[in-house]
Amino acid sequence: MNLNLAKTAVVILAAGDGKRMKSAHSKVCCEVLFKPMISWVLSGCERLGLTKQDICVVVSDIDNGVRGLLPEDVVVTEQEKKLGTGHAVMQALPFLRQKKNENFKNVCVLYGDVPFLDEKVLAPALCFHEKNNNAVTVLTSVVDDPSGYGRIIHEDDGNIKIIESADATAEELFIHEINSGVYCFDLDFLIKALPKLTNNNVQKEFYLTDTVAMAKDFGLKSDSFACKDASAVLGANSRKDLASLNEIARQKVFDKLYEQGVNIPCTDGIIISPDTDIAPDTTILPGCILTGHNIIGSNCVIGPNSQINDSTIGDGSIINASKIDKSIIKNNVKIGPFSQLRPDCVIEDNVKIGDFVEVKNSVVGEKTSLAHLTYIGDSDFGKGINVGCGVVTVNYDGQNKFRTTVEDGAFIGCNTNLIAPVKVGKGAYIAAATTITKDVGDESLVFGRVRQEEKPNGAVGRIKKKI
Ligand code: UD1
Ligand code: CA
Repeated sequence: MNLNLAKTAVVILAAGDGKRMKSAHSKVCCEVLFKPMISWVLSGCERLGLTKQDICVVVSDIDNGVRGLLPEDVVVTEQEKKLGTGHAVMQALPFLRQKKNENFKNVCVLYGDVPFLDEKVLAPALCFHEKNNNAVTVLTSVVDDPSGYGRIIHEDDGNIKIIESADATAEELFIHEINSGVYCFDLDFLIKALPKLTNNNVQKEFYLTDTVAMAKDFGLKSDSFACKDASAVLGANSRKDLASLNEIARQKVFDKLYEQGVNIPCTDGIIISPDTDIAPDTTILPGCILTGHNIIGSNCVIGPNSQINDSTIGDGSIINASKIDKSIIKNNVKIGPFSQLRPDCVIEDNVKIGDFVEVKNSVVGEKTSLAHLTYIGDSDFGKGINVGCGVVTVNYDGQNKFRTTVEDGAFIGCNTNLIAPVKVGKGAYIAAATTITKDVGDESLVFGRVRQEEKPNGAVGRIKKKI
């Protein structure tokens, strides 16, 4: 997004431990639609066109899961003692000073537990902030239940101040205009204001919110920017808050998909990540969970009861009651019911994968059929191959994994074991129940089963008669 704004840096606070979530990890690792809240905030920054080197994330000195979620190039700074949001931003002072030297004018401070903030909210706020030459602009919204949030007080001189819930009078607690925890600061003002913070309040914390009232001491202005969509700036401090954010986000994803022409006749049990793109005329049936980054083509039927993670699916494919992880499925592929594609599969056009089939780290060529009860692991299967029921690639000897190659047009009879490493040539025919231990030439016919022996009347007296 090109806004023609002065240079803007961002500080994201993510050092709090989230006691109220009762999680072993940091609160900002808690997920909304299976995406950690901190990753939502980072995606919003990315859509605003910010470069990673201009983003500083304040994290705890203890490794509580946040670091692993951050892209390599963002600046990371530690906060040892959790002495409040103002204290957290103080830890970013070296970053802020560096940005000042690089002629940055603005800095946005965001909280890692306010996930829905994005360019649609932040961009107009920054424009307002610059136009009015404010020292600080606080994004606010009016909510039905303001409990837990800082309240906005508008002063007669046009400035604002923020009173934290814990410090508010009974009267102030009736204010429904809240501090979203999103701020646009004049960089120079913030650098000067931070050292003046005190912890003279009920929680004995250094509140970032106290910098707002300081603007007028510097002869500068503070103001609020009302966010029209109150849900865009909601935060989550508890599991209950998280559940409401999930519901809001879920509905937003549906609305976006309806707009794109996706058919969702009943949303029961459907959760779709915000990073899933689906083309028109595809139907999503109940019980589908789509996580991570997915691209799904048009005219597909996904579900009921399918799980898809970080995968790409072409046009006209059907995924019925099956699980797909980190794989590429091309066009007109039918999968399921009850099959699983583990990571690193490429399934070419018009493949059929029926019921109770597991495929892992394999390529399956066009029009090949794996109709039922089969395991294909670490394999390269060509085009037009028929794989009978119960075929197993024996890819693991207890220590190492080996690959199996089956070339175009081969016929693999039921209950064949392919002991890898092994190759079956083009158009070869493997009779049912064969164990393949050696490479098979093109168009060969292979039988590898014990010959049948029959002893007439040999069963007499061996079976306890129940009939
Ligand atoms: C804060 C605001 C409140 C606002 C609300 C919006 C303050 C003092 N209060 O309250 O006005 O309405 O957010 O959601 O800022 N953090 C640190 N280090 C710390 C403390 C917090 O990094 O020492 C981080 C947390 O990880 C979190 C963010 O700062 O991501 C906000 O902290 P939190 O304790 O959740 O503040 P709230 O009580 O929600
Ligand atoms: Ca919070």
